[in-house]
Amino acid sequence: MLEGAAFEEHERPIGIQIYGADPEAMAEAAGLVTERYGPDFIDINSGCPVKKVVKRNGGSGCLKDLDLMERVIRAVVGATHLPVTVKTRSGWSAETRDPVGIALRMQDAGAKAFTLHARTRNQMFTGSADWDEIATVVEALDTPVIGNGDIRTPEDIVRMRDHTGCAG
Ligand SMILES: Cc1cc2nc3c(=O)[nH]c(=O)nc-3n(C[C@H](O)[C@H](O)[C@H](O)COP(=O)(O)O)c2cc1C
Repeated sequence: MLEGAAFEEHERPIGIQIYGADPEAMAEAAGLVTERYGPDFIDINSGCPVKKVVKRNGGSGCLKDLDLMERVIRAVVGATHLPVTVKTRSGWSAETRDPVGIALRMQDAGAKAFTLHARTRNQMFTGSADWDEIATVVEALDTPVIGNGDIRTPEDIVRMRDHTGCAG
């Protein structure tokens, strides 16, 4: 599990990303990563769409159960002194797409920044990311929002920031 977690001091600021759907195991992982590696922040990956990950509610699987997602975030926040950030998608499916609702719950649970990959889980990596959704989340949150999806060139980063007002 910890393979690849080590980093060099010159790489700071750096976060270590963890994922999982068991609040206790996630708290344990956060404590371990904090103690052993001391990154600058911990990011929870709630965006991975891969079948073997989501079938146990890991990655974007927890978008099917936002209560569980909140419990995971609260458990991780309670297990580390480091800032905890969350990366997720706009929803599980087109029917349940609700980026603002999801983002507000993540913020409420203690996430200090929020990365939105503006596709649903069911889109996997197809279609296009909805940058308008990123703009609505930027508007709704007090915490910084990192927009994600369809960045292909350095110019796209500027276009994304102009379009959405996101932090990065
Ligand atoms: C093979 C693969 C592995 C990925 N692994 C991670 C990961 O470990 N953590 C993460 O936050 N995002 C991961 N991503 C998602 C990308 O970072 C990014 O959010 C996504 O591809 C959307 O951006 P795009 O529209 O520019 O492709 C992965 C994507 C791919 C295709």
